[in-house]
Amino acid sequence: MTLIKQCSRLLAQSSPRNFYTRALLPTVSHWRRGSKSNNSGPKFNYNYGFVGLLGAAVCSVGAALNDGQISADELELAHGHMHWEHKEWFKSYDHKALRRGFQVYKEVCQACHSMQYFYWRLHVDVTHTKEEIKEIAAEYMYPGVDDDGNAIERPGDIQDIMPAPYENEIKARLANNGAEPPDLTLINIAREGNEDYLFSLLTGYEEVPAGQAEPAEGQAYNPYFHGYYIGMAQQLYNESVDYEDGTIPYQSQIAKDVIQYLSWTSHPWMDESIMYGMKAISSAALLTLFTYILMRTRRNGFRSRQIHFTVPGHEKSIAKNGNVSNFSKYKQVDDALSKMKR
Ligand code: HEC
Repeated sequence: MTLIKQCSRLLAQSSPRNFYTRALLPTVSHWRRGSKSNNSGPKFNYNYGFVGLLGAAVCSVGAALNDGQISADELELAHGHMHWEHKEWFKSYDHKALRRGFQVYKEVCQACHSMQYFYWRLHVDVTHTKEEIKEIAAEYMYPGVDDDGNAIERPGDIQDIMPAPYENEIKARLANNGAEPPDLTLINIAREGNEDYLFSLLTGYEEVPAGQAEPAEGQAYNPYFHGYYIGMAQQLYNESVDYEDGTIPYQSQIAKDVIQYLSWTSHPWMDESIMYGMKAISSAALLTLFTYILMRTRRNGFRSRQIHFTVPGHEKSIAKNGNVSNFSKYKQVDDALSKMKR
C-alpha cells in the first residue's frame, strides 16, 4: 500500500499533465504521419494508449489515497543542511575538533550513552597521544583476573573497549524513564540525515507549541525527533563544557564538535581510505597513460602487422586466391606481389 502511495506521490509531484502528454504523444504523431503519407485514415497505436490509461489509473488511485492527510510516520520536522567540511573531497577530519568532541562525549554524553564498539587505542595519534589515552583508559575499572585466577577489578588499558555507563539494558531503561539511550558508536550512520539530523536534534529543543500535549515526566519536546517527544532532555547549552584549547563553547560549537567526533567513530578509517584511494587512482591513471603511449609508439608496428603463411612452391596460387585475406586491400597487395614475382 505504501509503495503505491509513494509511486503515486512521485507521479503527482512530477506533474501528471506531463506524464499523460508524454504517454499519449506518440499516438497523436503516429496518426498524423499515417494520414499524411498514405492517406489510409487515422491509426491508433493501442500500446501507447494503454500506457496512458494505466498512468491515468495509477494517478487517480494515488490522488485518492494522497488526499492531504498527514500520517503518523510523518511526525517530525525535516532536519537542516549544514556544511560539514570533512565530507568534502580531499578533506580529512579536523583533528582538533575530534579532540574537543571526545571531551564533550566524555563530560556530557557518557553519563548515559555507551560507545561499546569503539576501542581506546583507535584514538591514538588521532585525538590524543598514546600516553594521554592510557591515562584516560586507566580511569575506568574493568573485570579481570589476578595471578591466582580470581576475578578482580583492574584499571582499563589502551586495548579495551570504551566502557558502558549501565550494566545492562534494564538498568539503562530504569534510569531513563523507560527509554534506552542508544549506543553512540555508529549513531551517525544509523539515523537518516546523519550529521545534519544529529545537529538539528541536539540544538533543536523547543517549548511545546500551543495546543500540543505537555511531555510526560522525563521527556522533552523536540520537533526533529520522530514523534516529537524524546526521552533525553536538552544536553547542550552555551558553556556546557570548558575547552582546553580556548575555543568558545557556544551550544552550536559544542554540538558541531561532538557530531564530528561521532561521525569519525562511525568511520574511523575514512581519512586513510581517502588517502589510499587517491594514491590508487593517481597511480592507475599514470599507468594507463604510460600503457597508452607504449602501445601507440613501441607496439604499433606489431599490432598492425598481418602475417601470411604460404606453402613453398604454391606462393602464386595462394596469392591469387582472394580468400587468403577477407580484406580487399590485402588482396590487392597480394595480387601486386604475385605480379611482381611473375
Ligand atoms: C541523561 C542521560 C542522557 C545524556 C547525558 C545524553 N543522552 Fe542522548 N539519549 C538519552 C536517552 C534516554 C535517549 C533515548 C531517547 C528516546 O528514545 O526517547 C537518548 C537518545 C539519543 C540519541 C538518539 C535519538 C534518536 O534519533 O533516536 C542521540 C543521537 C543522542 N541521544 C545523543 C546524545 C549526545 C550527543 C549526548 C551528549 C551531548 C547525549 N545524547 C547525552 C539520554 C541521554
